[in-house]
Amino acid sequence: MLTLTPKTLSSSSSSSFTLHKSQNPKSPNSSRLQSSKWRFSTNFVKSEIQIERGLEFETGETFFRHESARGRDLGVLSASLYKRSNGSLRILDAMCGCGIRSLRYLAEAEADFVMANDANDAYRRIITDNLSKIERGTGDERRWVVTHQLANKAMIERYMVGDFFDLIDIDSFGSDSAFLRDAFNALRLGGLLYLTCTDGYSSGGHRPYNSLAAYGAFIRPMPFGNEIGLRMLIGGAVREAALLGYHVKPLFSYYSYHGPVFRVLLRVHRGKLHEDRNYGFVTFCHLCGNSDTVRWDELGLMGCPCSDTKASPSLKVSGPMWLGPLHDATYVTEMLDLAKEWGWVSEGIGMDLEKLLSIMIEESDPRLPPGYTIMDQMASRAKMNSPSLKKMMSALVKEGYAVSRSHIISNALKTDCPMSDFVRIANNEMQN
Ligand SMILES: C[S@@+](CC[C@H](N)C(=O)[O-])C[C@H]1O[C@@H](n2cnc3c(N)ncnc32)[C@H](O)[C@@H]1O
Ligand SMILES: [Zn+2]
Repeated sequence: MLTLTPKTLSSSSSSSFTLHKSQNPKSPNSSRLQSSKWRFSTNFVKSEIQIERGLEFETGETFFRHESARGRDLGVLSASLYKRSNGSLRILDAMCGCGIRSLRYLAEAEADFVMANDANDAYRRIITDNLSKIERGTGDERRWVVTHQLANKAMIERYMVGDFFDLIDIDSFGSDSAFLRDAFNALRLGGLLYLTCTDGYSSGGHRPYNSLAAYGAFIRPMPFGNEIGLRMLIGGAVREAALLGYHVKPLFSYYSYHGPVFRVLLRVHRGKLHEDRNYGFVTFCHLCGNSDTVRWDELGLMGCPCSDTKASPSLKVSGPMWLGPLHDATYVTEMLDLAKEWGWVSEGIGMDLEKLLSIMIEESDPRLPPGYTIMDQMASRAKMNSPSLKKMMSALVKEGYAVSRSHIISNALKTDCPMSDFVRIANNEMQN
């Protein structure tokens, strides 16, 4: 058993991070971790020196993906904004892998303290070597510590001694929902929770009973399943927070097709919200392509405008899930300003960070309902060619509708325009 003492522990607390051999995820009892390793085995890259945002680190035999760099960028920008507005920043990197996030939180966001935790104690040397680029410090000045606990245990222990974090980052495989309650408890009020879900089958509606178990949401296949994945994840957190007397607000939501990976950053506030405006159901009609939202008190009134009867087999319903904006426009604007300040824009790699954050700002319009219309699908349903996104956007705005691009898919639009009007406007544009 290894004992470590972080800087914030008071003398009255149980003052140690403990590592029990019985927790070692390599033990045969730890099927969760083992099955994750099995599924993701192709991502265990051979040890080599990597460079991300100018920081050198090694990956050893740990799970590491270059493609997650954008998700790490977003986490670091948010951590830095938090430090700037609150003055201090204590982070739990609950599933740190090789420790690259922890290193970036320390070096770039200037975190005061990072607990870099990964259940796999075989990663210890690699994490410690990577973090040793940052002076570790001692006593109250200690800046980082490496632990090897199951994430739940790490969070429960910190909660039990009243040692809270400003930001908890849970970069898990599969679904995060098993960590939600302990994370809320270990988080300072007003703190940030950065969640990950890699369960594309559930968000795609292919495992509705899995999504029901994990997030309390029965998800059916819909053409905007990747946005549903983000809303399902936020909705799961909304439900769990309410149970503890908290409410959460998404600051940004980010879908990446590598994996796929769904990431959301939530701010946690005290007090339940006494309205369910942003937590309900989404419908999609496979006949006409119309989608809508349904609130709890409208559950008996579902129907699609294209159908004469109220009950239509073409209408699929998913939920409950988060129905509100995917991002906070003011917050994402601050992220974009910081990214510009740091020279992180116009880099010509993947989807440029500036473009990503700009589309997120567009998507934050509270008038925009869940989902998006994929232009090709609309066109083939209506047996027509589709106008360009640009033409369609300005035509929709001219008719008084809200509209934005989607950061999830390039050839799609988010709008509050019903499908029948959308097709009419698209047709007009093709004739002009
Ligand atoms: C997706 S990887 C982390 C990648 C890393 N955050 C990065 O950005 O490169 C997930 C990590 O979680 C660890 N892990 C899996 N289950 C865990 C659990 N219950 N508690 C703590 N760590 C766990 C695995 O050993 C693995 O290193
Ligand atoms: Zn319909």
